[in-house]
Amino acid sequence: MSTPYIEEEEFSTQFNGRTILRILSQVKTHWQWIIGFVLMIATVSVLDSYFTFLSKRIIDEGIVAGNQAALKSIVTQYGSLILVQAAAVFGFIYLAGVLGERVRYDLRQKMFNHLQDLSLSYYNRTPVGWIMSRVTSDAERVADLVTWGFLDVTWGMMNIATATFFMIKINWRLGLIVFTIMPILVIVAAQFKKKIIVEFRKVRKINSKITGAYNENITGVRVVKAFGREARNMNEFGELTSEMYRAGYRAAWLSALFLPTVQIISAVALGSVVWYGGLQATMGNLTIGGIQAFVSYVVFMIWPIQEMARVYAEMQHAIASAERIFSMIDAVPDVKNLPKAVDPGTIQGDIVYEHVDFQYEDDDPVLEDFNLHIKQGETIALVGPTGGGKTTIINLLGRFFEPTRGKIILNGRDYKELSLNAIQSRIGVVLQTPHLFSGTILENIRYGKLDATDEDIERAAKLAGAHDFVTELEKGYQEEVGESGNLLSVGQKQLISLARAVLRKPEIFIMDEATSSVDTLTEALIQKGMENLMEGRTSFVIAHRLSTIRRANRILVIESGKITEKGTHAELLRQRGHYYRLYTSQFRSELEREYQPFRPASAAAE
Ligand SMILES: Nc1ncnc2c1ncn2[C@@H]1O[C@H](COP(=O)(O)OP(=O)(O)O)[C@@H](O)[C@H]1O
Ligand SMILES: [Mg+2]
Repeated sequence: MSTPYIEEEEFSTQFNGRTILRILSQVKTHWQWIIGFVLMIATVSVLDSYFTFLSKRIIDEGIVAGNQAALKSIVTQYGSLILVQAAAVFGFIYLAGVLGERVRYDLRQKMFNHLQDLSLSYYNRTPVGWIMSRVTSDAERVADLVTWGFLDVTWGMMNIATATFFMIKINWRLGLIVFTIMPILVIVAAQFKKKIIVEFRKVRKINSKITGAYNENITGVRVVKAFGREARNMNEFGELTSEMYRAGYRAAWLSALFLPTVQIISAVALGSVVWYGGLQATMGNLTIGGIQAFVSYVVFMIWPIQEMARVYAEMQHAIASAERIFSMIDAVPDVKNLPKAVDPGTIQGDIVYEHVDFQYEDDDPVLEDFNLHIKQGETIALVGPTGGGKTTIINLLGRFFEPTRGKIILNGRDYKELSLNAIQSRIGVVLQTPHLFSGTILENIRYGKLDATDEDIERAAKLAGAHDFVTELEKGYQEEVGESGNLLSVGQKQLISLARAVLRKPEIFIMDEATSSVDTLTEALIQKGMENLMEGRTSFVIAHRLSTIRRANRILVIESGKITEKGTHAELLRQRGHYYRLYTSQFRSELEREYQPFRPASAAAE
């Protein structure tokens, strides 16, 4: 909903030489294509000007002089050059297309690879929508600039240069008149285009707000009605649409004014040419063909000038786009491999948190002087109020974030000495909101271990308790799960992500509230799969449900980043502290449900 809005940020960037150079350096590797491209454009525009010059000769040397032989030879020359020009036109359009694709390919590849490298903390502070518009619309805009924008500018400049050359050759005085008027056209056109683009951007920006408003009000229609917000929402919407109307109105007005203005300025230029040219002709300094050629050259310059004004106006936005893309490419991952990072091949042994401090960005500390020693093969359950720091503790373990102070010991050494892959490839995680990728169920499970055979996958699915529901689907393991798995229920997705973790055969297994949003039946399945997976592995279980944590070797109650209670289920009950209260309040309903199996699951979960 907020995605399209982020895309339409304000632009304050003006021309920035360094960014332009950097954009150009992106295409440096394709220099052969660029040279070919410039040559083609040069051919086209030189020929264009030359054609006008040939027309002049046809009139003067052929028609007016009554010389048939000259007429024939010039027309033949004209005809053969047209063929050359046609080939060049084909060439530059083709080359621009190829070049554009290459630049887009490079940028996409660079951004995608870099995005994979960036740490979670980057995603933490950067909205997804922002990133999405970098990889889509910004990349597109930059690619357009270096191809079509570059094409227009080269073509325009060549046209102007060659037209200038021929005008001076024909009559330099008349040429001077044209050159005093043309800059006015350039400036006026550039200003207009800039203003028009600004207004259109405003329209687009409001438009995305309107889309967002539609979206929120349609998807949230129940809440809107339930809270009687209709009138107020209508007011807010009304403001948006009238703002849009005003911006659209200004854009239309400016666009309408633009062409007539250009026409008037061009008419002044043409009028001067005809008047002064006529004068020169009466004095015998200029031929009829010469006047005609001049008129053509002036007309010939007007279009490129308009095009260049447009590119100039768009260029500022493309530069802003490029700057944002570069800011993303330049972002350095916070968590990265140290130069001598090693992969010991396994991460066995105890896990120790030693005096760990941690905070997200500049927020308040989440953990302060946190200490914990977990023995190899132990199952640890973390319970406690939301926001207590449970997820943070396991985020640190997976080294998705690193402690700001203190250290975590894996395999007998500070885990910063290990490579990220050594740690992350040996941890299996099942999260509260399972994430699947579009594709088949088979592919999604295989994500856990890319070289797994179909049999391995089926075995993993059986262990995870997913096999039964999968075989009931029409296409079984070949069933498509839809975008982010939305063709499946949350419970089904959870079973698949569990199967994915099972397939991986992780050395450390983590479940973060994996059963909190599934029905009781699925929960029982997950429970069983989990137990299969936890056997002999160091495991962390974060759960609300008693049944999930009761069997843990140790239960830790985490409150405000501290371990406030620890022990086995029985020990903690005896302490009559937080766990006991949790047990008596929250777990009671669970126990009731165990004895009333026919109560609807949703009611029981409330
Ligand atoms: N990605 C994040 N960025 C910033 N702050 C976070 C982030 N995740 C959690 N926090 C904060 O850290 C604290 C602990 O959160 P968390 O570890 O998710 O607790 P729990 O899993 O126990 O509910 C909370 O105050 C939360 O607001
Ligand atoms: Mg959590």
